[in-house]
Amino acid sequence: MKKILQIDKDLNKIQDLDILLERILYYARDAVSADAGSIYIRDGQELEIKYAQNDSLQQQLAEGQKLNFSIFRIPVNEKTISGYVAAKSTHLNIKDMYNISADRPYSFNTHYDQTSGYKTVSSLTFPLITNQGEVLGVLQLLNAKSPKGNIVSFKKTDEPFVLHFASTATVALQRARMTRTLLLRMTKMAELRDPKETGAHVNRVGSYACEIYEAWAHKQHIPEDTLQKQKDTLRMAAMLHDVGKVGISDLILKKPGRFNADEYEIMKSHTYVGARLFADEESDLDSIAKDIAISHHENWDGSGYPGKIEWENAKPDEILPSGVGLVKEEIPLYARIVSLADVFDALSCQRVYKEAWTEENVMEEIKKCSGSKFDPQLVDIFFEILPVLKQVQQKYPDNH
Ligand SMILES: [Fe+2]
Ligand SMILES: [Fe+2]
Repeated sequence: MKKILQIDKDLNKIQDLDILLERILYYARDAVSADAGSIYIRDGQELEIKYAQNDSLQQQLAEGQKLNFSIFRIPVNEKTISGYVAAKSTHLNIKDMYNISADRPYSFNTHYDQTSGYKTVSSLTFPLITNQGEVLGVLQLLNAKSPKGNIVSFKKTDEPFVLHFASTATVALQRARMTRTLLLRMTKMAELRDPKETGAHVNRVGSYACEIYEAWAHKQHIPEDTLQKQKDTLRMAAMLHDVGKVGISDLILKKPGRFNADEYEIMKSHTYVGARLFADEESDLDSIAKDIAISHHENWDGSGYPGKIEWENAKPDEILPSGVGLVKEEIPLYARIVSLADVFDALSCQRVYKEAWTEENVMEEIKKCSGSKFDPQLVDIFFEILPVLKQVQQKYPDNH
């Protein structure tokens, strides 16, 4: 009971949608000792996998690496287990996935086991249903473990526990979805000005930033609860890195070709225009979003902008001359992370005025900028977690 209450409390504190999905899956598995599991979100008549976790496969990876899973969708119908659970709004507790009775409409897709070398035995699959009866997604837990670590079936007594858990998770999900929608609307306002700032771009930058931060925090032995809390805030704050572009004229942002010196100065002001939006600092989100907005164009070697300027006292439409650039650790950590994430994404993607660079060229450029533009320690981490970053790319394709 104590554990349930603690989990409820923890889930209700998480604000970012992606961080929440990852935590829901983690807590649910932990609660019923499931070796593996996945969480799906419903999108129309399909379910899209959002996170997959697997302790056994994870143990085979080097420290700091994350499980790589392919992003796929399944139709909401009776043919698959998760599809059935979503279509019928009911849960399924299956003892042996390889011996599902032939009179059942669904069957087990063995593709995952075949490609991963994992053997799925038991599963417990729950719909995430709102009070209004809408199915938001599906939570699937795989391979219950006995106290001795053997793979066993999920117990009947696990079911009410997961049911309660699913309802808490659903409420938290609805809230996080609303927050995400609001953040995307804010970036949409900036996007109307600058077509480069799309929803997919900011989602990728948010996710890259979190992955880089998480790997950094592990190296620094930051306690897990602090790490999770910071990640949640960073995910949202990073999405808002260029929100200051709402204050920049279309004539400049949409100008084809190069900026002249005056136009460039105006363009640079999106940093402090953005920071001003969070200047009241009512929460951690405000303070991190402010740091990121003001400093995401600073460079490790001091050659970035806007540098040391007194933006707090400037008039709303005043264009300030750049100050002496911030150097190394003077640049807030989160801004250093977002700078790397933002440039990586910009280079990797096709934009109106340029083709996407080849992966080889992107990697070369990032390596080259280590110690000049970027914090070298973060660049090292970037290369260590590259497979995870590539998975983020798959998750948020440009046309999505
Ligand atoms: Fe920017
Ligand atoms: Fe950006």
